[in-house]
Amino acid sequence: MLSRMREQLARAGIDAAALEARLLLGHVLDTDTVALIAHGDRKIASEECRRALELTQRRAAGIPVAYLLGEREFWSMPLQINEHCLIPRPDTELLVSLALERLPAENPCVLDLGTGSGAVILALKRERPDIDAWGSDLSGPALAVAARNARALRLDVHWFQGRWLEPVRAAPTFDLIVSNPPYIDPGDPHLEQGDLRFEPRMALAAPNHGLADLEAIAAMAGQHLRPGGHLLLEHGFGQAAAVRRMLDGWGFHEVCSHRDLAGHDRVTEAQSRDGST
Ligand SMILES: C[S@@+](CC[C@H](N)C(=O)[O-])C[C@H]1O[C@@H](n2cnc3c(N)ncnc32)[C@H](O)[C@@H]1O
Repeated sequence: MLSRMREQLARAGIDAAALEARLLLGHVLDTDTVALIAHGDRKIASEECRRALELTQRRAAGIPVAYLLGEREFWSMPLQINEHCLIPRPDTELLVSLALERLPAENPCVLDLGTGSGAVILALKRERPDIDAWGSDLSGPALAVAARNARALRLDVHWFQGRWLEPVRAAPTFDLIVSNPPYIDPGDPHLEQGDLRFEPRMALAAPNHGLADLEAIAAMAGQHLRPGGHLLLEHGFGQAAAVRRMLDGWGFHEVCSHRDLAGHDRVTEAQSRDGST
């Protein structure tokens, strides 16, 4: 069964055909990939066979393996995901590490803008249970996924829906605001390739060469930060200079960028001067 699936995936041009065949079959048989190999003589029921081949066909048609499994690991947490939210990327763990280093010692109040599956705020809350955690998204279906993940992980987060900071008027001011907003240029040909074809366009692309949402957040965040509070923004690796300029322009200080493991500027941070920048 495994070799049949692997061959179909390889024929469809899937690079990691062997690994993905194991993941998909493991999903159908409700077993992990090690047990799959160790018990290679197990009989497969015809219904399991049908489901495995159906998943293989959908994967061969390009649907991301994470959507087929309904799950992706982030920060060593299993997160449920579906086609309404971005598939969390390992790159974004840099945002989490930097955020953890900047949290005040006690009961910090933290907001994750554009939370998607909840990946960032749930990772922070898991590491620091004393956080007063808030997450927002414009997408109701994405927020439903985030709330489901919070329940499954038994983490307490306040969720709200709306355009960036517009709905947070009644909320407290924050010690830290983090965001991984859409930042791909709508004309970027990568949007028509690989997994990106199947992810929500509103999670990926933003007008003005991908900078419009970063700019909207930079414009609003200062009013919602406590004095000395931090803003951390993930962005494309060619956008760091533009993001630093916009943060300087909105009156933030201590503006600097940080590189991901591939050596690309991936996150830019800034600090509020007096909470009214
Ligand atoms: C790149 S995804 C990040 C998802 C998640 N934080 C992660 O890192 O995996 C961007 C998120 O921003 C949300 N979004 C897009 N436009 C928005 C807006 N105007 N206001 C609030 N959220 C928005 C999308 O629905 C999406 O969930």
